[in-house]
Amino acid sequence: MKVVSLVGARPQIIKEAVVQEQLQKHEIEEVLVHSGQHYDYDMSDVFFKVLKVREPDYNLGVGSGTHAEITGRTMMAFEQVVMKEKPDVILVYGDTDTTVAGALVGAKLKIPVAHVEAGIRQQPHNMPEEINRRVTDHVSDLLFAPSKLAMENLVREGVTKGVYFVGDVMYDLFLKMKPHFDYSVIDELSLEEGNYVVVTIHRDFNTDDPIRLKWILDGLRELSKQLRVVFPMHPRTKKRIQEFGIGHLLEGVDVIQPLDYLKLMGLVMHSAFVITDSGGLQKETYFCGKRALVVMPDTGWRELVDTGWNVLVDKGFSCSMTGKDLFGVYGKGDASCRIVQVLTQWHETNYAIGDVTLDED
Ligand code: UD1
Repeated sequence: MKVVSLVGARPQIIKEAVVQEQLQKHEIEEVLVHSGQHYDYDMSDVFFKVLKVREPDYNLGVGSGTHAEITGRTMMAFEQVVMKEKPDVILVYGDTDTTVAGALVGAKLKIPVAHVEAGIRQQPHNMPEEINRRVTDHVSDLLFAPSKLAMENLVREGVTKGVYFVGDVMYDLFLKMKPHFDYSVIDELSLEEGNYVVVTIHRDFNTDDPIRLKWILDGLRELSKQLRVVFPMHPRTKKRIQEFGIGHLLEGVDVIQPLDYLKLMGLVMHSAFVITDSGGLQKETYFCGKRALVVMPDTGWRELVDTGWNVLVDKGFSCSMTGKDLFGVYGKGDASCRIVQVLTQWHETNYAIGDVTLDED
């Protein structure tokens, strides 16, 4: 079996790290393609380095642009690679413009597409990631769901063929990398354990509206009077703050460069709590045993909010539960292994695809 994997943005490189390891273990041929959607050292190369992901075989160099530009440029360049490589399956991850581009190319060339992190849904329905998720899920042949809720979402939309609950590959990565977490930022910034907050904000609905972005920065400045606030800043957020001329609102906040996975996890492990609009970090915070204020009207990781572990800032506070009911909700840390098992079986059975059973373990 020959697999072509497409990554392009920070969270996809993270997911690829553990799937790649399993593919190698099973001696499955993988051609790795990077769209180039993320290109800064801090946003891309450093993840390859610290997670030991091998160099991509192709970099499509699409860079930044409008959603149509990123998606369109990725589709055109990726189609050439796929036609040349003729894979048995295309593997796409998550919900970025790169993801949807890869899925559409596969679907139109009639090459099966497998989506890792299928079935996640959230409001607002018009956020770019949500559009990407829906389109990708509806053109994919194999759908690897990270949670039972994700499976239910797919079934509700009539997607019942080729759906597998495998758990969350990000949990696999967390368990694998925990012994290697890098705590150096704590010393570098002279932080005190348990006495600082980690912030990441980059969603379009938080960054592109000056009133909402100002509301967030005002909140962080207030908070920084009580606790140190460490804000590894995404380039998009930095750009908007400059455009809107509101950088002075960050006085008292420790703004730093985006961090690699190991440094971010090291920082979160000893934090008081986290404030974020990142899908991945909401879960990683929970894996670290910490709580997150999620600056979103809704989240695809509802389990963490419904049990009161994480709190949606838009909807007020309700931190009454311990979160112990959450055990196992994102699998057992063997999601990447299960993904490769399904792929192998599917290939060996001549691409037989079954109907989903919701009570499957
Ligand atoms: C993308 C994903 C989002 C994911 C995030 C992780 C989409 C629609 N969204 O959002 O799901 O959570 O990646 O970071 O694909 N920029 C740089 N250098 C880079 C990359 C980006 O300066 O290496 C700046 C550019 O100004 C660019 C902006 O950030 O226009 C936004 O980048 P883009 O890739 O469009 O989306 P993200 O906000 O990163």
